[in-house]
Amino acid sequence: MEREDLFTDEVKGNFVMKMWDGRFSKASDKLMEQFHNSLPFDKTLIEEDIAGSIAWAAALADLGIFSPDELKKVKSGLVEILDDYRNGKIEFLPGDEDIHMAVERVLIERIGDTGARLHTGRSRNDQVATDSRLYAKKAIGHIIDAVCELQRSVLDRAKSDKKIIIPGYTHLQQAQPVLLAHYWLSLFFLLEREKSRLEHAITTTDIMPLGSGAMAGSGFNVNREKLAENLGFSSVSQNSIDGVAARDFILETLSCISSLGIHLSRYAEDLIIWSSREFGFVELDDAWSTGSSMMPQKKNPDSLELIRGKSGRFIGNLTRFAATLKGVGLTYYKDLQEDKEPLFDSVDQILLVLNVFSQVIATLSVKNERIEEDLDPFLLSTDLADYLARKGMPFRQAHKVVGRIVAFCIENGTPLTDLTSEMLRKFSESFQDDVADLFSFEGSVRKRLVAGGTGVESVDKQIESASRLLS
Ligand code: ARG
Repeated sequence: MEREDLFTDEVKGNFVMKMWDGRFSKASDKLMEQFHNSLPFDKTLIEEDIAGSIAWAAALADLGIFSPDELKKVKSGLVEILDDYRNGKIEFLPGDEDIHMAVERVLIERIGDTGARLHTGRSRNDQVATDSRLYAKKAIGHIIDAVCELQRSVLDRAKSDKKIIIPGYTHLQQAQPVLLAHYWLSLFFLLEREKSRLEHAITTTDIMPLGSGAMAGSGFNVNREKLAENLGFSSVSQNSIDGVAARDFILETLSCISSLGIHLSRYAEDLIIWSSREFGFVELDDAWSTGSSMMPQKKNPDSLELIRGKSGRFIGNLTRFAATLKGVGLTYYKDLQEDKEPLFDSVDQILLVLNVFSQVIATLSVKNERIEEDLDPFLLSTDLADYLARKGMPFRQAHKVVGRIVAFCIENGTPLTDLTSEMLRKFSESFQDDVADLFSFEGSVRKRLVAGGTGVESVDKQIESASRLLS
């Protein structure tokens, strides 16, 4: 093959030529081309890439690399490329290794030599790190917004389900009565912590690597502070090696998303159980359920099952990238290109999960009568032991006495709440007539006015503080 022929940037038989092919005497194999081409996924970064390039061009113009007219040409060229891309008018070529090279190639085709000066002092290494950080920052912002939306949905639920008492569970055994609102609010406060994790991820991400060049720092002394300001970054990276090599922000973002996914999965699991015929505590709205292709009677909580199921995907994306990153030395190696698919996938999927969960919670109906039927009188056993402790009996002893009462009830098929004070006195002299006051679920809940408890006043306080946090 003639050397001249190699510069056409086209597919030649099995070979593709490139922007960087000056030192090569042979083009990439087609299979190699396919192997390292990241365009199919990193075109997601086109907006960030173009914003980065516009800012970079302005920084170069400050150094006299572009005249004011040339800068205008570069800027409008880049803006046009973005418009055309959105309208499906950009054709990618086999040699467009990634979005960075694709945009630059089209720009050069359109505005010629002026465009060919854009990559002065810049490397794809600081370029991709900048684009990814811009993307991640924006994405985390969207996730935080979606978490707020879910919190709103949860808080509304807590307000409307304020009077409903459910059995609280440990080990999937009825434990103690709690307000359903108390249960919903547990999710609200968890989500508040998820948000603070995400906000920390923004802090980690909000550092501009542009100007780090390939790894040693750009050969052109651009004003990086000004660049950062133009791109909306709070600070610039203090070290060019760290600037191009660091992917901690991606690891942290994937970790935050996994945490969110794992925790939502637990709530989805509860609601799946609660929506079964055996429990029947809640019913999902038809719009968020699906049927069976064979069994006509079925209404399945697929929305919740997918929320639970996708948590595996988030953990997978985190471990997948963690495993890749672990072996990569400093600074840039192509392994790092493997950061994008897990990041994009986790971001897209967590937004779906959050939006769907908000809707599912907002639209489900609570089956109060069914729940009431299901409240086991034994839920009040702890209150009975507390009663004895209040009368002065050491709690360990009280626990044993009530244990015997429970055994008696089971043996005789007597509900705990049917026992009279006289019968109770056979187990302990400490029982007085006021013990009858214990036998109500409302009473049990009312007593738990300790801060953070399920008592009505405590739940009201939680609602108040949740509303404050959201406003
Ligand atoms: N597509 C590459 C990535 O996503 C861009 C950086 C390429 N840099 C390089 N030196 N090959 O990581």
